[in-house]
Amino acid sequence: MPEDSGKKLTMVTCSAPVNIAVIKYWGKRDEELILPINSSLSVTLHQDQLKTTTTVACSRSFQEDRIWLNGKEEDITQPRLQSCLREIRRLARKRRSDGEADVDAAGLSHKVHICSVNNFPTAAGLASSAAGYACLVYTLSRVMGVEGELSVVSRQGSGSACRSMYGGFVQWIMGQQGDGKDSLAQQVEPETHWPELRVLVLVVSAERKPVGSTSGMQTSVETSILLKHRADSVVPARMKEMIEAVHKRDFTAFAELTMKDSNQFHATCLDTYPPIFYLNDVSRRVINLVHRYNRHYRETKVAYTFDAGPNAVIYTLQQNVEEFVQVVKHFFPPETNGGQFLKGLPVAPTTLSEELKQAIGMEPMVKGICYIISTKAGPGPRVVEDPSEHLLGSDGLPKESA
Ligand code: DP6
Repeated sequence: MPEDSGKKLTMVTCSAPVNIAVIKYWGKRDEELILPINSSLSVTLHQDQLKTTTTVACSRSFQEDRIWLNGKEEDITQPRLQSCLREIRRLARKRRSDGEADVDAAGLSHKVHICSVNNFPTAAGLASSAAGYACLVYTLSRVMGVEGELSVVSRQGSGSACRSMYGGFVQWIMGQQGDGKDSLAQQVEPETHWPELRVLVLVVSAERKPVGSTSGMQTSVETSILLKHRADSVVPARMKEMIEAVHKRDFTAFAELTMKDSNQFHATCLDTYPPIFYLNDVSRRVINLVHRYNRHYRETKVAYTFDAGPNAVIYTLQQNVEEFVQVVKHFFPPETNGGQFLKGLPVAPTTLSEELKQAIGMEPMVKGICYIISTKAGPGPRVVEDPSEHLLGSDGLPKESA
């Protein structure tokens, strides 16, 4: 090996998307391997609006594995990070011993430095662990020359992360095996399948950080009879119906199942003992608003879904976006001196009919919603080719901007 090889860095940067479930994952049958009690299905959101970017570098000169998240060094010994690192290294070793590829030996024997950032504020309360672990596993796999089915690895970082390994419409098949090898994500349709589908993330102002999903679902599994009923008797049929609705681009079926499944998930949270409240007053107003809007048109034009927090995610079709955004602005008037209320894909302003405003008939609530992110379905993880976008410098430490 040449003298200076000790300083040589191998560096790869990738980005990965956020996903929002329409059939929710809630509850594990195995905490360590992260195996769920039911299958789930999500839409991968476009990375132009929401993504995690991760750089992984490896070098002979690195003393230990290290990780920086959103500008701060974090503890690399966290069990979930360790699971992902261990699994990728194991797969790389296996490929090398199988003689399958010219696996970069450096990546195997050397320590790694990992640096990761989100292009959306962490304070927005959007689940960032899915994009984060998907990006970590995807980038590590590129550095270490691992190919093939990787959702089983990102699943061990965070359950929902396995669905961020693909674009478009993605199911996480719960699997049956004890070792989790059959608990993996599969693309149902690519993002190009339903171009009219639009997504609006309504970022709700919240004072407190709610109970995290990991501990929340643990208490639900221990105490909620409704959750068991949901997993055994409701979700299997809903998965079939949802896949069918996606295949046929049947918005009414898609929207109704999405809302019912979000409501049932939050009902299992109420059935948890002690109960968990993720929805707040603003969330409940958004639910009412959507139902009144749909009732006015006698058509399901808009759907809501909520994860482990008060933010609403709205699914609708392109032709309804302008009016619905105006409805949100009218009933949740933004702060006049605040920043930009609408971020992401542009939405033209429009005027609402008096009839529609009256049909909704709610008292406007000032500042209930901080801002809206307008987006759509998008592709899975990708390699960022431009070396200037690496988050680590040639010294293997985060650049100023990272
Ligand atoms: C409500 O994937 O964050 O968003 O596996 O413990 O990391 P862990 O949980 P996580 O749970 C996500 C729960 C949810 C529903 C969903 O995304 O399906």
